[in-house]
Amino acid sequence: MLATAALTFAQSGLARVLRPGDVTVDATAGNGHDTLFLARRTAPGGVVHCFDVQAEALARTGSLLARAGLADAARLHACGHERLREVLPADVCGRVRAVVFNLGFLPGGPGGDAAVVTRPETTLAALAAAQAVLAPDGLVAVVCYTGHAGGLEEAAAVATWCAGLDFAAWRAARYELANKPGDAIIAWLLERAAGKKTATG
Ligand SMILES: C[S@@+](CC[C@H](N)C(=O)[O-])C[C@H]1O[C@@H](n2cnc3c(N)ncnc32)[C@H](O)[C@@H]1O
Repeated sequence: MLATAALTFAQSGLARVLRPGDVTVDATAGNGHDTLFLARRTAPGGVVHCFDVQAEALARTGSLLARAGLADAARLHACGHERLREVLPADVCGRVRAVVFNLGFLPGGPGGDAAVVTRPETTLAALAAAQAVLAPDGLVAVVCYTGHAGGLEEAAAVATWCAGLDFAAWRAARYELANKPGDAIIAWLLERAAGKKTATG
């Protein structure tokens, strides 16, 4: 089906670029589902650098990967994604095949704090950092949720930031199910423009 959920759309884009052995970043580890997706798609030999500000999120992510037999693929960083550039090993900068942002709060279960949400300032700083570490043929995927406090504002900030990217250097695609009931979920895919048609294309 062409009209999929926003997260499925983002994952289809990622699946197109990911290869075994790739280095990737999950900028919002949360429950670890995106990390697991990245780890599976880049096995064997791939490494996923995961960021989260909540110890509970990193614990859940580590445990999910361990249950899938992929614990060795994850590097867990207990800090905000806005520190991505300083935390990633220098030798992977410019070689990161994909950076995934699944914004908002940590859903489900005790131990997490749903009041800890991603915020426009740090999200935009992290997006700029993601651009800087991305491989020439890499992809940044961002999924924005608008139903929680601050979500609409964050989605608007991401939209403005994406729309402001230089068309000669970047392509930013936006995807949303326009008739979805309830709060909008928006996916963005960002790629370098090199190798693509310029002008209108
Ligand atoms: C929607 S959840 C992520 C879902 C996750 N990718 C998954 O597959 O389950 C958003 C996560 O972002 C985390 N977060 C909030 N601010 C952050 C920041 N500045 N840097 C990194 N993670 C942050 C939250 O703690 C929460 O776990």
